[in-house]
Amino acid sequence: MNIILLGPPGAGKGTQARHLVETRGMIQLSTGDMLREAKTSGTEMGKKVAEIMDAGNLVTDEIVIGLIEERLTSEAGAGFIFDGFPRTLAQADALAALLAKLGQSLHTVIEMRVDDEALVRRITGRFTCGNCGEVYHDETKPTKTPGVCDQCGGTEMVRRADDNEESLRTRLMEYYKKTSPLIGYYYAKGDLRPVNGLADIKEVTASIEAILG
Ligand code: AP5
Ligand code: ZN
Repeated sequence: MNIILLGPPGAGKGTQARHLVETRGMIQLSTGDMLREAKTSGTEMGKKVAEIMDAGNLVTDEIVIGLIEERLTSEAGAGFIFDGFPRTLAQADALAALLAKLGQSLHTVIEMRVDDEALVRRITGRFTCGNCGEVYHDETKPTKTPGVCDQCGGTEMVRRADDNEESLRTRLMEYYKKTSPLIGYYYAKGDLRPVNGLADIKEVTASIEAILG
């Protein structure tokens, strides 16, 4: 079963994807995570990617489609969760072609609906464990012991360079201009299932579980 988590920055895509990985053994393909890895590689491509991401703009279709293709063809499990991909119509077409080539299909596109005001609060309060990647929030999901990861005991907490109000404004603009047309694209195909992303993390998880069955 292959699914897409579609939604604006901070909608909770990464949080819910991690849950599906743990409970269903699915593989999370987050283009954001892949690009952040490329950023730290120190290569020319990494430097270019860092500049674009930190400002909140979208990286080129060519780069992200290449990253997805590499992972799709080399990994297998109980299905893929596309987190932050596709983000443009060109990426959506490329994904359909890649899946068809592999004899696979898309099960569902889950649209996580959250209003802009809540997104600002979520993004500005987010931090992540530098060791295992668990995602936290200053108010809605703090660690049990301050500064210590609940999952792995790691003590290095990181905040993303693009998690500031200015980059977030650009990320939202990019989302409305280039990514939100995908809602109509998948609706027309009959694949779209909306969930209320404003609910508690556990309630959102339950809505997704109900859709996936
Ligand atoms: P990416 O890493 O994909 O970032 P994003 O889409 O902006 O999404 P986020 O990771 O910010 O949010 P999320 O929805 O995963 O929310 P989370 O679960 O963390 O992309 C970053 C950049 O990379 C892009 O700007 C672009 O430059 C580039 N890029 C990536 N993919 C690309 C592509 N395909 N094409 C071109 N460029 C690409 O939750 C957020 C916070 O809220 C957390 O603190 C969490 O604890 C909290 N939270 C989550 N759910 C709830 C809830 N229900 N209630 C309360 N709090 C909650
Ligand atoms: Zn951790």
